[in-house]
Amino acid sequence: MKVLVCGGAGYIGSHTCVALIEQGHEVVIYDNLCHGSISAVDHIRQLSGASVRFVEGDIRDRESLEAVLATGFDAVMHFAALKIMSESCRFPLLYFDNNVAGTITLLQAMQSTGVQRLVFSSSAAVYGDPDVVPINEDAPLRACNPYSHSKLVMEQLIEEVCDARPSFSATILRYFNPAGAHPSGLMGEDPCGVPTNLMPYVAQVAAGLQERLHVFGGDYPTRDGTGVRDYIHVMDLADAHAKALELLRRGGCHVLNLGTGRGYSVLEVVEAFEHVSGCRVPYEIVDRRPGDVAEVWADPSRAEHALGWRAQHDLVRMCADAWRWQSMHPHGYQSAQVIELRQVVPSTGLR
Ligand code: NAD
Ligand code: WQD
Repeated sequence: MKVLVCGGAGYIGSHTCVALIEQGHEVVIYDNLCHGSISAVDHIRQLSGASVRFVEGDIRDRESLEAVLATGFDAVMHFAALKIMSESCRFPLLYFDNNVAGTITLLQAMQSTGVQRLVFSSSAAVYGDPDVVPINEDAPLRACNPYSHSKLVMEQLIEEVCDARPSFSATILRYFNPAGAHPSGLMGEDPCGVPTNLMPYVAQVAAGLQERLHVFGGDYPTRDGTGVRDYIHVMDLADAHAKALELLRRGGCHVLNLGTGRGYSVLEVVEAFEHVSGCRVPYEIVDRRPGDVAEVWADPSRAEHALGWRAQHDLVRMCADAWRWQSMHPHGYQSAQVIELRQVVPSTGLR
């Protein structure tokens, strides 16, 4: 298929682009680079050997989207969103404008250009504090901050469009805790400053860029008192996206959890990271972070059945790949050791 990847210069989108090209699809990347990096696009080209087209644009710009989509696409993958919960609490309007208004514009542009298939990045954040773990897709939805509200509204919008237009099909993928990097070490998560997520923060402590990890809460009702999450390798997510394209051929609207089905505590992540890196990760247990919950892990059986997919990479592999990326790019893409060759055509936004 020919796929427009909105947000393809970001962490999960860039890894997915490589997987899609490896599986024979053609991708065009559409990204406003508010968080993603043009270096990621260069690395997609380098890893895949394909001459991937990049369009610098915002998903809230309908004219720009329609101009691209009118060139003919089989599907859209929609990764483009702001994703930091704490930031969303300070700037709720920004989050609703970027994420929700952007998704409305994207759906309008798809409709006017006749593109009928969508894969959407949602989040386990829509479950909030779950009653039971593992969490399946029928669990109550309890978004409890502007970011997760925006994801829930976007899911509902997409479902309404599917209901109204039988020719439109969508797969909504609820990621648990993405982690790890491409095994080459050329692509990974670039937090653009101090990371808010656990794995990149641990990587920076191991590399000596942060003094110590603050473990948010040591008194949760878990096996060692620290929070438990379902970490999933970004390459497993990428593979699931490629399989989701095939599911779209069957039509309908599908909602699927993407996790491993296994939870690890913060201290277990620290231990695994020390093991693979050979570096110490000093930590200090501090107060719980507001909004955090004790335990979150997925029941991924619906995705396994619908996609014929199962996560292949374990926690050690996630840490090893995250460490390789961190070692090769101590300050993210800005410190890339690879010389990047770019051709920029400013008047069109094409690179
Ligand atoms: P990311 O920030 O690395 O990538 C998002 C990309 O979208 C960036 O390249 C950014 O420049 C682009 N973008 C944002 N707003 C845009 C706009 N208005 N127009 C065009 N481009 C825009 O984030 P990621 O970790 O790759 O996340 C991808 C998706 O997955 C997001 O929708 C996020 O909410 C969702 N998600 C992420 C996680 C996670 O922990 N990383 C977990 C669950 C869900
Ligand atoms: C993991 C665990 C923290 C940082 C959020 C969203 C989720 C997805 C990923 C977008 C928790 C602990 C963390 C630190 C710590 N994003 N921690 N010290 O909060 O589970 O998930 O980001 O959709 O949907 O909910 O991820 O990586 O921030 O935290 O102790 O410096 O690590 O308390 O137990 P979280 P996280």
